[in-house]
Amino acid sequence: MSELVGNSVLVIGGSSGIGQATAAAFAAKGAKVTIASRSRSKLDAAASAIGGNVKTAVLDVTDDAKVQEFFASNEVWDHVVISAAQTPGGPARQLPLASAYEAMNSKFWGAYRVARLVRIRDGGSLTLVSGYLSDRPRATSVLQGAINAALDALARALALEFTPVRVNSVSPGLIATPLWDGLDAEARQKMYADTAKRLPAACVGQAEDIARAVLFLAETPFASGSRVLVDGGAVIA
Ligand SMILES: NC(=O)c1ccc[n+]([C@@H]2O[C@H](COP(=O)([O-])OP(=O)(O)OC[C@H]3O[C@@H](n4cnc5c(N)ncnc54)[C@H](OP(=O)(O)O)[C@@H]3O)[C@@H](O)[C@H]2O)c1
Repeated sequence: MSELVGNSVLVIGGSSGIGQATAAAFAAKGAKVTIASRSRSKLDAAASAIGGNVKTAVLDVTDDAKVQEFFASNEVWDHVVISAAQTPGGPARQLPLASAYEAMNSKFWGAYRVARLVRIRDGGSLTLVSGYLSDRPRATSVLQGAINAALDALARALALEFTPVRVNSVSPGLIATPLWDGLDAEARQKMYADTAKRLPAACVGQAEDIARAVLFLAETPFASGSRVLVDGGAVIA
């Protein structure tokens, strides 16, 4: 029987993509899962797709007061995953500063806000989701790489501060999720196909690939201060 049975798990950003797949993977192992994000309708759709007794909570990680309110109950979680982000991107000279601040506020400061308030039992885990652009930068997504590097560094330092709570990060490569729904279907399929051709893994990542890495970190008592890169080989290609 999995040691996750009956564990309380919070997945922030659990209403879509990597977060939803992670929530589903924890639920399949018998954990009591709560998913949180901004949109009530996305949360309801994700909860019904996951099934079981998944709880939902509306939470915007960019809102200091709401984050404070959410964690005021002092609930102690077994495992917490932060996959929430909305990060406008582009070349540094073209991305307006306001959008750059917005991206950092969502993905980096959002994780930081949560991390400093969330309570996790000894031996439990906090996992941040970063991204491979920190290792393989792109001229068109300059800030994304910098945010991901900051998140990886944050996880490693928090592993020291929060001991014996374990803190880790998972760094995904290109993953087919609703993150890419802004592209028209043809451009999206072409991007996936071109990427698959280039990668040693010869395929595009799925949200479930990343969920596996998150569960590995949560279930492994010796994993702390680790960064797990799951990128299909993008950084060596
Ligand atoms: N997909 C990829 O190719 C890829 C690659 C590398 C790294 N990543 C990283 O992986 C993480 C998850 O990405 P994904 O592909 O799963 O994206 P996604 O499908 O767009 O999911 C993002 C999730 O974050 C939530 N969210 C966004 N802003 C939020 C906020 N301010 N407060 C609370 N929740 C918020 C969204 O729900 P609401 O809209 O309901 O708030 C949604 O549940 C992101 O950090 C992304 O940068 C993704």
